[in-house]
Amino acid sequence: MTSPRHRSTARHDGHPGATTPWWRQAVVYQVYPRSFADADGDGLGDLRGVTSRVSYLADLGVDAVWLSPFYPSALADGGYDVDDHRDVDPKLGTLADFDEMTAALHAAGLRVVVDIVPNHTSDRHRWFREALASPRGSAARGRYVFRDGRDGPAGPMSEPPSSWRSLFGGSAWEPVGDGQWYLHAFAREQPDLEWSNREVRDDFLQTLGFWADRGVDGFRVDVAHGLVRDVDNNLHVDFATTHTGAVDDGSHPLWDRDELVDVYREWRQLFDTYDPPLAAVAEASVHPSRRWRYSDPSSLGQAFTFDLFEAAWDAAELRRGVELGLEQLEVGASCTWTLANHDCVRAASRYGLPPDHEQRSHPASKAWVTRHGASPELDAPLGLARARAGVLLELALPGSTYLYQGEELGLREVPDLPPEVLQDPMAFRSEGAEKGRDGCRVPLPWTPTGPSFGFGPDDLEGGAAPSPPHLPQPAWFAGASVAVQEADPTSALHLHRHALRVRRDVLGPEELTWEEAPEGVLHWSRPAGPPQGGGGGEEGGRWHCVVNAGGADGSGAVVPLPAGRLLLTSGPLDDAGHLPPSTTAWVLVP
Ligand code: NOJ
Repeated sequence: MTSPRHRSTARHDGHPGATTPWWRQAVVYQVYPRSFADADGDGLGDLRGVTSRVSYLADLGVDAVWLSPFYPSALADGGYDVDDHRDVDPKLGTLADFDEMTAALHAAGLRVVVDIVPNHTSDRHRWFREALASPRGSAARGRYVFRDGRDGPAGPMSEPPSSWRSLFGGSAWEPVGDGQWYLHAFAREQPDLEWSNREVRDDFLQTLGFWADRGVDGFRVDVAHGLVRDVDNNLHVDFATTHTGAVDDGSHPLWDRDELVDVYREWRQLFDTYDPPLAAVAEASVHPSRRWRYSDPSSLGQAFTFDLFEAAWDAAELRRGVELGLEQLEVGASCTWTLANHDCVRAASRYGLPPDHEQRSHPASKAWVTRHGASPELDAPLGLARARAGVLLELALPGSTYLYQGEELGLREVPDLPPEVLQDPMAFRSEGAEKGRDGCRVPLPWTPTGPSFGFGPDDLEGGAAPSPPHLPQPAWFAGASVAVQEADPTSALHLHRHALRVRRDVLGPEELTWEEAPEGVLHWSRPAGPPQGGGGGEEGGRWHCVVNAGGADGSGAVVPLPAGRLLLTSGPLDDAGHLPPSTTAWVLVP
């Protein structure tokens, strides 16, 4: 175990000041551990696999790694069904492997962020097993949300307490056979915890401390806007039609409740006892006007800006997404950008589909997406060009950027996984209406050859064959592999490495000024130089970012760039040095 860092008693409010917290403008790389690298050849990625790729991550130039859950789990929801929040899934390694990985990442100068899942446990968690073995009204059931069926304790119990639907489809209530039902916002294997219960709150504080004492630098908080709900007063509310947190006054009974402020204030107090204070980012699909409640320095400090992520590739929509994200600066929080994660159709596919295409976004909740297989309407080159332009767009914004593994390779969605290999509960619970999220979770290709394109070993000791990757990789992954892209200076991988290097040199204070731009174009500038330099550092001048979004079909006029030093473009300029549609340029203007 890496030696526990020393605890400080100094309060740190996260505002830029004497010391700017490391995470305010960090680039964080999301590792989905099961699909990143498989060291032991069992077909599942593992922690030793991450350790074996530390130099790749360091060369890429990111500042931190966020690991999606690696805790013991039956993988009913890709690991977000946690059996034990303070251990490592034996399928993925051991606590010693975790410590070794953390030490290797730290030695390479990378921070470590882990996913924390406070809204629910798995149904195999010892608390839940205890709850099932205990009677109604017991303390064990009080850690979860158990209620009698609609007919009350003496009735036939054939009806759930309310008509609420789970976000993965089907009822949000599951009967336990004695007339009671438990609530699960997600899969039935993910019973919701009762956060008004002090024991639950204390237990999570211990879990956070457990990982922090092992050297973790921060947390990504899963469903941060869930946790607290007002169940009994709202059994009549139709959960199916009001299941997002998109109300702006905190009146929703299930999401974004005011009581959460207290929960995260308590977490922040714990985080600030560490030196440096721990980082935390909320995954909170809430109304933009409420995002500050999670990102405020007295709370978690960051909250993902999903508005940019949900925007179609359209200048007005992209600008709106940026503007909503920038509002975080007003509360002293850092802006938090992302275009991809393990829940959404990969950006290179999303941006290559018509804006209203069903694969792009879900009509009910844009954060959740449907996939119905390969689409003849996909324009793959256009999608890739826009994904490349998109990453330069987000990296040039003030704040922190979260990249999802494989994004640096420009990977598209794998839309044609056969039904029998699907793992996502969304696919099962929607009775085929949705294909689920497996298409963005296919194991990474590292080499153009080999049984798993280098995801796992080519053979095992003694000559045995390794197990195939847990989701099948398509043949086109060969050409998208790391080794192939290493050899191609125009590849997405080189673009990302180059962009991260340049960004480090020109990164300045967290400010942005919009510049005049023709229709279809976004143009802003920022003071170039070190973030604490107060504007205009070593480089001096201003860092301009020009995004030519172009028309919906990729057509459109080229635009002239400001006079200055061209730092980087996401694609070739035309012969006159003008920026074509679906392309972004960075220019340093003295
Ligand atoms: C959000 C996670 O990103 C997603 O993968 C998971 O299914 C749900 N939360 C439930 O934990």
